[in-house]
Amino acid sequence: MSEPAFIQVEKEEKIGIIRLNRPKQLNAINRKMVSEITQALEEMDKDEDIRAVVLTGNGRAFAAGADIDEMAEDTSVSLEMLNQFADWDRIHCFKKPLIGAIQGFALGGGFELALACDLLFCGEDAQFGFPEIKLAVMPGAGGTQKLTKLMGRTKALEWLWSGEMMTCKEAVKYGIVNRVMPAELLWEETIKYAHTLADKPPLSVRLIKDAVNKAVDYTLYEGMQYERKNFYLLFSSEDQKEGMKAFMEKRKPDFKGR
Ligand code: CAA
Repeated sequence: MSEPAFIQVEKEEKIGIIRLNRPKQLNAINRKMVSEITQALEEMDKDEDIRAVVLTGNGRAFAAGADIDEMAEDTSVSLEMLNQFADWDRIHCFKKPLIGAIQGFALGGGFELALACDLLFCGEDAQFGFPEIKLAVMPGAGGTQKLTKLMGRTKALEWLWSGEMMTCKEAVKYGIVNRVMPAELLWEETIKYAHTLADKPPLSVRLIKDAVNKAVDYTLYEGMQYERKNFYLLFSSEDQKEGMKAFMEKRKPDFKGR
């Protein structure tokens, strides 16, 4: 990947780190930034050493939404031809665990990017919302769908119509974020958790994510059939043999991701 302009990419042992890096604009998400995130994630998906990825923002916000300056003059036709959400779709195809460390604002497209993560840890200063209605538009990268699946139709409508921000306490209550902590502990705690996940057998982690994602769209019967296939698949891995052998030999397993 050539040097990205709007994100920073790092690696810490088995953890990939992506930092949104337009702090002066509160990490407003322009199209180049989305394609850089997509590219970084796809490279991390291929990198066998990386077992989990943490996504965060530099400065006082995670991201205050899509870049309003960039889209102000768009038309329906220019948006259709740009097909910018194809990159967002690719973010949703990321196979490894993606953990969001959210500080400050996560608004509009920034909230949608947070919702593309598998787990969300946030500082007590985090605020979430879909203010698009104040701009006479609406979320376009999955916000209406994801929020509704998380909190139910009536609550989602209330938030989306108001455009107001919800606190991290409300976000926990509605099942949107996993953990809230003092802002100064956010990074340390998130990285610590990511390392814990990185030590788990990678194929199990991956196929559990795959099956859980299917639960959102499939009927219970379809989901259970799908889960069974993933369960069978794991029995062709070396790690399954190692995990069960280590249990019987009363020793710590050494998982290789094969
Ligand atoms: N796009 C472009 N620039 C943005 C931005 C955005 N979404 N959010 C903040 N900025 C810029 C501001 O213009 C400002 O730049 P200047 O210093 O050059 O003036 C800088 O970031 C700092 O912002 P503020 O001075 O406004 O900071 P504040 O603390 O007073 O307010 C805020 C913070 C409440 C988040 C306010 O910036 C705000 O309301 N931002 C817009 C939020 C928004 O409407 N997001 C939704 C965008 S639409 C979308 O995301 C569509 C989609 O689904 C894909």
